[in-house]
Amino acid sequence: MTDKPLNHIGFIMDGNGRWAQRRGLTRSDGHKEGAKNLKRVLEACQKRGIHYMTLYAFSTENWHRPEPEVHLLMTLFRQYLAEAIKEFKPENDVQFRFIGDRKRFTKDIQERMATLEGLCSGKENYHLTVCLSYSGRDEIKRAVQKMMQDAIDGKIKPEDVTENTVSNYLDTAGLPDPDLIVRTSGEQRLSGFLLWQASYAEFYFPKVHWPEFSEADLDDAIEAYNTRDRRFGKVKVA
Ligand code: FPP
Repeated sequence: MTDKPLNHIGFIMDGNGRWAQRRGLTRSDGHKEGAKNLKRVLEACQKRGIHYMTLYAFSTENWHRPEPEVHLLMTLFRQYLAEAIKEFKPENDVQFRFIGDRKRFTKDIQERMATLEGLCSGKENYHLTVCLSYSGRDEIKRAVQKMMQDAIDGKIKPEDVTENTVSNYLDTAGLPDPDLIVRTSGEQRLSGFLLWQASYAEFYFPKVHWPEFSEADLDDAIEAYNTRDRRFGKVKVA
């Protein structure tokens, strides 16, 4: 358990390539190791009572990586989805959600995402959201398109739009905003991750590369989070 409520943690899983390079391995090896570590970190979060976990797995910009690397990542997503479907147990009570522009994926990957989401529909203890072909700007653009179409169809009026309305048009509709965002590998930027939702998130940037981000590193992140004074723009009451 954490001291301060930590309901939602986001991970920008950076550094697979550098981790591999340091060991004389290929970038593909780095991604494979990153995928393995993902499972360990998620279990560790669950053990610590964190109910919402969101992962930045593939950005809209990542499509521009060399074709063999994109191909390898697609193979990993396929395998990950197939395993998650095979190993699905209702009692784990995890709701998977895939957000981003999923139309860009091949049909079989889209079908696996839908199958897994269907299997866990109604689960509500843990929420695992995976951002694939995602960027916050693209998400906001798609939300504006939907909202404008609803306005044309007479379903919504400009004067009725609140911040809540905007949140409900985003891919993350219904999820609480992240409390803590961890980006591994020492880079200190969001790179488009949850731009609207991260408004009051705390940030933690460990130097360690994603494949070796351990339970102890997670505890350090939580400890750092516990020392933060979250005022949400207000003045602290003594
Ligand atoms: C960034 O590290 C990582 C990615 C673009 C891919 C993240 C994917 C995984 C962790 C594995 C697969 C995920 C799932 C959901 C199965 P980088 O390669 O940019 O690292 P670098 O900056 O050191 O090159």
